[in-house]
Amino acid sequence: MCGVIGYIGTGVTPEFFYNGLKRLEYRGYDSAGIAMLEANKIYIERAEGKLTNLQKKLSNLPKSAHLGIGHTRWATHGKPTEQNAHPHRSDNIILLHNGIIENYKELKEFLLTKNYVFQSETDTEVAAHLLNYELKKLNNSNSVEDNMKKAIFSLVKQIRGAFAFGIICTDEPDTLYVVKYGSPIVLGIGENENYMASGIAALVDHTREIIILEDNEIAFLKKDSIKIVNFSGNEITREPITVNWSSNMLDKNGYDHFMLKEIHEQPQAVAQTINGRIDRNQGTVDLKAYGIHKINLKQIDRIQIIACGTSFYVSCLAKYYFEEFTRIPVEVDLASEYRYRSSTVNENTLCIAVSQSGETIDTLQAIKFAKENKAKTLAIVNAPGSSIAHVCDDESLIYAGPEIGVASTKALSAQLSSLLLLALGMAQEKNKKDKNYIANCLEDLSKVPSLIEKTLALSKPIKEITLKYQHMDNLLFIGRGQQWPVALEGALKLKELSYIHAEGYAAGELKHGPIALIDENMSVVCLAPKDQYYEKTISNIEEIRARGGKILSIGTEGDTSLQAISDDFIPVTKCSHIALPFLTTVPMHLFAYWIAVRRGNDVDQPRNLAKSVTVE
Ligand code: G6P
Repeated sequence: MCGVIGYIGTGVTPEFFYNGLKRLEYRGYDSAGIAMLEANKIYIERAEGKLTNLQKKLSNLPKSAHLGIGHTRWATHGKPTEQNAHPHRSDNIILLHNGIIENYKELKEFLLTKNYVFQSETDTEVAAHLLNYELKKLNNSNSVEDNMKKAIFSLVKQIRGAFAFGIICTDEPDTLYVVKYGSPIVLGIGENENYMASGIAALVDHTREIIILEDNEIAFLKKDSIKIVNFSGNEITREPITVNWSSNMLDKNGYDHFMLKEIHEQPQAVAQTINGRIDRNQGTVDLKAYGIHKINLKQIDRIQIIACGTSFYVSCLAKYYFEEFTRIPVEVDLASEYRYRSSTVNENTLCIAVSQSGETIDTLQAIKFAKENKAKTLAIVNAPGSSIAHVCDDESLIYAGPEIGVASTKALSAQLSSLLLLALGMAQEKNKKDKNYIANCLEDLSKVPSLIEKTLALSKPIKEITLKYQHMDNLLFIGRGQQWPVALEGALKLKELSYIHAEGYAAGELKHGPIALIDENMSVVCLAPKDQYYEKTISNIEEIRARGGKILSIGTEGDTSLQAISDDFIPVTKCSHIALPFLTTVPMHLFAYWIAVRRGNDVDQPRNLAKSVTVE
């Protein structure tokens, strides 16, 4: 969590840091700070709360500075106050941090014996003081740069946990020091200026030439050079990658919220993810174009999909398709649980890490575990060069474009289309389905973007319907088969955006407990499109009605009998079983979105959440 940005060059304004942090605010938004070094004088401004509070203090910073760092925080150690906001200072060391220092207590005790005075409750301040302590121990006749290098090496040897540091030493104004272990950092190359940030989004207004810093590396940024060494002191040469994100992909483009914009970007997200990966003449999946290079799919006899949050629900959905197409057993695991459940894998197991950000720490650690235990590993991620992709044998990008809203929407559709491609590609490799079947499914998948486009017209009627539901305290969501994970996703979105208590259930499971909650005050969102489970779901709806529960159903267009037993009815176009979950997810997202808007909540930055979860 936390967003960081840094600059060294010929000069930038405080707004440079502020605007960069704005692009990263989805990573954390409880306090923020900026440090700028100009004419050997350091200026630091920090503020509690959202970035707009820091904006009010920008005029206290110099109009221009050639070196600076900025931070937007998601609190781990210490409350979200100004005092705990980064950067932290220890004499000539100004440091900011993304991650967690696990052994901060013992280090703090040690530093207290050395008379260091702590101003904050954070783990980060420990790193600032420890670096200062290490620096002071060194011989003054060496250059500051050499001593800083040595002191940073000593620092990283003593701390445990995850850290991405941006460091300024006021005695050495020509270098910005960047350290990475476990938390993401990218470096940006400019002309007579260089940058660092915790995400590409912060830099696309300035450069597209990006170097991904890897774990155990320290970068020394000067205005005209970048030197990288690993923690053993060996120099590393790394070619930059060119990213094709443009600034307007990172703007709201007329929408009130990023989330609404991103819901409307789903057709492109799916189209871009499947484009070039289907051989339309042959009716086959082009697995090389998909990203399968090292893994031999023919050899796979078991699949595990590992993910968190919305990525987990997409994975639950994909299980139905993998099992149907490939007849291979599939397990879907929450990454935070997988790591600790001694899962048994072998060289014939394919472990797929599904992660929009590619940085979720639980997913990263889980996939590392799978790899260490000899499984074949595949990353399905939206961020090129991300940590999860780096660990896996193969990487398949989804092309959703930058997703800024904390609640994931368009990434879900892109991930699902990617997983469908893989499931069909595996069926093809293992001869589990005949050619026509696969070709027809791919044809169905190709129609998804235009079908979603049509479904987006539901935004207005759903907005109307939410008038009635906005003050509810509780809601249930039910579905069967592929609609069960859709129900889980619907409940998650409602919880995180509107702060209304919601639960998702398999419709058939209702009678084993949750039905006790049904009375005239309980509304149930019922996913009941005309699929193979339709009649059974209708029986469950009747059971709810018999107990006085209110029904908001999502069904197939023209289904008058479902409409007749529902208090409210949201129709989706009749379509193939491939396209169906894409379409029924759209009303789930719009429903949560409009309720949150009506309740006056911050849709893009819901309380207590962050988009990229890099702490356990
Ligand atoms: C956070 C975000 C969710 C996201 C989840 C997994 O909780 O708020 O929107 O689904 O992390 O993130 P990932 O980047 O691994 O898909």
